[in-house]
Amino acid sequence: MVTLRFHGHSCWEIQGAAHRILIDPFLTGNPQADVARADVTALDAILVSHGHSDHLGDTVALAKQTGAVVIANYEIATYCAQRGCTIHPLHIGGGATFPFGHVRLTIAHHGSTGPEGEALGNPAGIVLVIDGKRLYHAGDTAVFLDMQLIAELYGPLDVALLPIGDNFTMGITEAVKATELLCARMHIPMHYNTFPYIEVNPEAFRRAVEAAGRKVVVIPPGGEYVVP
Ligand code: NI
Ligand code: MN
Repeated sequence: MVTLRFHGHSCWEIQGAAHRILIDPFLTGNPQADVARADVTALDAILVSHGHSDHLGDTVALAKQTGAVVIANYEIATYCAQRGCTIHPLHIGGGATFPFGHVRLTIAHHGSTGPEGEALGNPAGIVLVIDGKRLYHAGDTAVFLDMQLIAELYGPLDVALLPIGDNFTMGITEAVKATELLCARMHIPMHYNTFPYIEVNPEAFRRAVEAAGRKVVVIPPGGEYVVP
């Protein structure tokens, strides 16, 4: 059984049968976060989509606190290694197998500077396969036609986690198009209502995706989705 717990913004905790993974662990300073950094224990890996502080977040502190390996693009991984973390660098298009499953970085159209403007490579999306479930975390991105390729090569996707907050990423219209390109078994919105810039109504996304005949569920911060 694979459970996805939403800690707000783009932070997802993936709980498999024997492993726990955190994606984009923005807890400190995240007004939606339902857990504090100190509450996080027994973590196997931290996956980071890009260097922006609302995604890199607590990565360095959490990796050192838990011993989790940081998996991200080469520049982010190196940044974390220089700060004392155990890392595994990847880059876009590449993937690797880990004790908990498989991680591949995919393209994303966005930026990736670090907390103090460091050049932290290119932003990525993440395809994670764990316990036979195929998950896609889009990171921060515009919609792009190559999402079809992600579905074709790495699908069928069980879950697609998609930003809908507009302004910095896809808005609802674009995210609905993304569901058409990805055709996941379930689509879940993220990266909205954390800050004034990205206030949108997730129910509008839900209605539009359902009207298009695809599956969607809105998970509130602190909520979870069990992959069937
Ligand atoms: Ni960003
Ligand atoms: Mn962001």
